[in-house]
Amino acid sequence: MIGIYLSGTGNTKHCIEKLTSLLDETAQAVPIEKKSITNLLSQHDFILFGYPVQFSNAPMMVRDFIKKHADLWKNKKVLCVATMGLFSGDGAGCSARLLKRYGAEVVGGLHLRMPDSVCDVKLLKKPLEKNREIIQAADKKIENWAENIKHGKYPKDGLLFHHQIAGFIFQRFWFHSKTKDYSGNLKINNSCIGCGSCALVCPTGNITMNQNRATAGNRCTMCYRCISVCPKQSITLLGERVIEQCRFEKYIKNEPKNFSSET
Ligand SMILES: Cc1cc2nc3c(=O)[nH]c(=O)nc-3n(C[C@H](O)[C@H](O)[C@H](O)COP(=O)(O)O)c2cc1C
Repeated sequence: MIGIYLSGTGNTKHCIEKLTSLLDETAQAVPIEKKSITNLLSQHDFILFGYPVQFSNAPMMVRDFIKKHADLWKNKKVLCVATMGLFSGDGAGCSARLLKRYGAEVVGGLHLRMPDSVCDVKLLKKPLEKNREIIQAADKKIENWAENIKHGKYPKDGLLFHHQIAGFIFQRFWFHSKTKDYSGNLKINNSCIGCGSCALVCPTGNITMNQNRATAGNRCTMCYRCISVCPKQSITLLGERVIEQCRFEKYIKNEPKNFSSET
């Protein structure tokens, strides 16, 4: 068994690491941008596949990853795990349908509500204590399902037809254009000091350093990692200014840690 994930602000990383270790303490959880991922994927038959929901869809990088490894999914058992700030309808179903197309057996779908990761939009921001409660509830759900999965019973979040209808009507119909491709809308303003933290953490290699300034390309998967680590809050995507740098670590400890490059 292996856990694989895309995670922007650390929520999905936490959830996949926790579920993976509860199911098999010897199993690894690795990010999809890791260089050895193809090799690791081919070695395992049971995969926990996690990602953050974006406008009730799987992030572009996740959909790309599934397609890029099309020949590796056949006969793999996959549990799709989608984390979300509020609601997704069929967050897990979005990858499940694609994986099935390539021959995977989707054994389940798990939806986990976690703190909101959109650093430059105020809408879903919560006080620290509320976010801690949300994480505790997600941890409890993971623990309960880990026990069930050990007995062969899997969650079905986001996999049924009415979930698909809900995801479509409440989100994808309105926001489809936001997730249909990588984004070229990442903005880096003049306060950038050229530290390179953003380029280091970007999972798609979308940010490059030119003459001590960060420059964004058009392959942003909207994970918000760069925005959450920029020491000058110089980067925005959906909003005009950074409201809060969302990082999983800060909900569980007082001092946020730096992301490290995991490739
Ligand atoms: C661009 C974007 C779109 C999002 N859309 C949704 C959404 O439609 N529904 C929802 O509940 N959460 C949404 N979220 C919140 C994230 O899914 C949620 O905070 C997730 O746990 C982040 O996980 P991560 O830290 O592993 O990236 C969105 C986040 C981003 C960055």
